Amino acid sequence: MRNMKTISGVFAAAVMMFFASVSYAAGPGSSLEKSVAVGKALFIHGTFGGNGRTCETCHPAGGTVPGKMPGNITIPSLSNAAAIYPRFNPRVNKVITLEDQIRNCIIGALHGKPPAYGSIRMNALVSYITSLSRGKPMEMGGKPQ
Ligand code: HEC
Repeated sequence: MRNMKTISGVFAAAVMMFFASVSYAAGPGSSLEKSVAVGKALFIHGTFGGNGRTCETCHPAGGTVPGKMPGNITIPSLSNAAAIYPRFNPRVNKVITLEDQIRNCIIGALHGKPPAYGSIRMNALVSYITSLSRGKPMEMGGKPQ
């Protein structure tokens, strides 16, 4: 019985430490807002060692307005992108995540080297793009706006 108490005590302490270490606050100056800011800077300025293009080359105004591709082809904004992933991509015949799409654009459009999954830079890009969808309804597989 004593052991059980010790185990549940250790477990309770671990749970408390976990919650203490996770910041839910998203106010200015929070770690989350810092990640959003780093992601925004990468979005505007990052070339990822590629051909000199940045995300803004095709997704102007931080991705908040519709984009333009060479040949005057209009593409949707990224304003609800985070709310519609994961989605099925018929070109690769599988479900892809937001990270996968970011990597696709870095490899295919910037000819750059994408940050690793789970890296600070990848998570910052995800944070920034997700921040654009704040308040939008989750619509997994839905249409880009
Ligand atoms: C040469 C133009 C070009 C550049 C540069 C570019 N993209 Fe894209 N991006 C596209 C196109 C075209 C799409 C439309 C989706 C597709 O490829 O099917 C897209 C789609 C996306 C989407 C998904 C939007 C949705 O609603 O489905 C995200 C997220 C995205 N891009 C992020 C980025 C990021 C981050 C960068 C910079 C690292 C970037 N893109 C750079 C052309 C570009």
